[in-house]
Amino acid sequence: MLNLIAAVDEALGVANDGGIPWQGKIPTDAQYFRDQTSKGIILMGYGTYKEFDSPLHDRENFVVARPDSGELKPGFVGVPDAADFLDQHGHDLVWVIGGAALFAQTLSRADQLFLTRVGGDYHCTKFFPTFSDAFESQSEADPHVESGVTFHFEIWQRRQAAT
Ligand SMILES: NC(=O)c1ccc[n+]([C@@H]2O[C@H](COP(=O)([O-])OP(=O)(O)OC[C@H]3O[C@@H](n4cnc5c(N)ncnc54)[C@H](OP(=O)(O)O)[C@@H]3O)[C@@H](O)[C@H]2O)c1
Repeated sequence: MLNLIAAVDEALGVANDGGIPWQGKIPTDAQYFRDQTSKGIILMGYGTYKEFDSPLHDRENFVVARPDSGELKPGFVGVPDAADFLDQHGHDLVWVIGGAALFAQTLSRADQLFLTRVGGDYHCTKFFPTFSDAFESQSEADPHVESGVTFHFEIWQRRQAAT
C-alpha cells in the first residue's frame, strides 16, 4: 500500500522557497501527520530530508538520495531510486511524505492520498501534482481553525478500474 500525505493550499502549493508557509501554525495537522504515519515506512525526497534535524521516531526513514550525497544524518537511510524502492516494498505500508518532486514521481503508483487542505493561496513555488481524475474522495472532515489558518483533512482513494 502506497500512501502520499501532504498539506496543500488552494493552489495545491506545498512550499515556497522558505519551506512550508504554515509550518508550526497548525498543531492539529502536525499531530494528524504523526498519527497517520505512525505505522509503516517513511520515504522522503532529499529536499525534504534537509529540513529534518532527526528522523520520525519509531519508523524507518528512507531518503531518495544520489549515491554521491555522502553520509546521511543518523536515523536516515538513503535509497538511490524511488521506483526501485517501491518495487521492493510492494507489500509494505509506505508513506511518501514529500516534497513536491517526490510526490510527482510517486503519484502514479499511489493507492491513497491523505491531504490537509489549507485555505488560501500562499503563493507557493512547489506544488502537489494534479490528481483528481484518477482518485475519488473517500472522506472529508470538518474544518479546523488554528493561528488564523483554516484547514481540513481529506482522504482520496484510487478509482478502481471498471470491470
Ligand atoms: N506541504 C507539505 O505537505 C510538504 C511535505 C513535504 C515537504 N514539503 C516541502 O517541499 C519542499 C521540498 O520539495 P522538493 O520538491 O524541493 O524536494 P523533494 O521532493 O523533497 O526532494 C527531491 C529533490 O531533491 C533534490 N536533491 C538535492 N540534492 C539531492 C541529492 N543529494 N540526492 C537526491 N536529490 C537531491 C532533487 O533535485 P535535483 O535532482 O534537481 O538536484 C529533487 O528535485 C520543502 O520546502 C519542504 O518543506 C512540503
